[in-house]
Amino acid sequence: MTVHFIGAGPGAPDLITLRGRDLIAACPVCLYAGSLVPQALLAHCPPGARIVNTAPLSLDEIMAEIAAAHAAGLDVARLHSGDLSIWSAMGEQLRRLRALGIPFDVTPGVPSFAAAAAVLEAELTLPGVAQSVVLTRTSGRASAMPAAETLENFARTGATLAIHLSVQVLDEVVARLTPSYGADCPVAVVFRASWPDEQVVRATLGTLDPAIGRGERTALILVGPALGAEGFDESRLYAGDYDRRYRPVGPAPRFPE
Ligand SMILES: C[S@@+](CC[C@H](N)C(=O)[O-])C[C@H]1O[C@@H](n2cnc3c(N)ncnc32)[C@H](O)[C@@H]1O
Repeated sequence: MTVHFIGAGPGAPDLITLRGRDLIAACPVCLYAGSLVPQALLAHCPPGARIVNTAPLSLDEIMAEIAAAHAAGLDVARLHSGDLSIWSAMGEQLRRLRALGIPFDVTPGVPSFAAAAAVLEAELTLPGVAQSVVLTRTSGRASAMPAAETLENFARTGATLAIHLSVQVLDEVVARLTPSYGADCPVAVVFRASWPDEQVVRATLGTLDPAIGRGERTALILVGPALGAEGFDESRLYAGDYDRRYRPVGPAPRFPE
């Protein structure tokens, strides 16, 4: 018996890996984080599967579901939105499973920041403009931010920021970022990336209307000069005169065949 943690992707039911889909189809128990995991994915569950929305459950209750499946020798598909490496609450579940000696594995998913970048048709790491992406959030009721992980600190790097769980405090985000990035820095807010009602607002920090975030929860704020840049350098990797292992160039290539 194994608990398969599966990244369910950002919302579109076809943005799941083949491995994730096949595991759902093979598991007689499916626990899914109901608020963001697309219901359509549950159609992959085998007939008669026990399907439980864990949104209203406590961690103890979720573990009780898993322990019951373990006792019955039934594999579990455990679905969380996006990818499991960020804001999935997987860490605390794995710690308990290790303590109980219950086997598990992890299948990655498409994270929402990647889905939002795809909607924007944007590369977040442009040569000479930004070479880092910071996945962050502002503090919420359930999670305080570690002292050094402030928007101001990240903004000082000039990196591209992908700010999660924060659209409801858009005015605060803009106020904290503007001193470092400047009012003309591009910003995009992507609501429900890959869902049928996906929406995009592009602006600058100076022109963004913070009211667009009211009453919304599922949105990403992307900020940084890479979002609007056209005058960036081309990557050296594909330059005609760039000598590399897979494309030796010149009379004395660095990596002879
Ligand atoms: C609890 S976190 C889950 C993140 C998820 N594990 C991931 O890989 O993206 C939920 C937050 O992710 C962002 N998010 C999740 N799905 C999204 C989507 N389809 N479009 C835009 N933002 C999304 C929002 O900021 C939302 O408040």
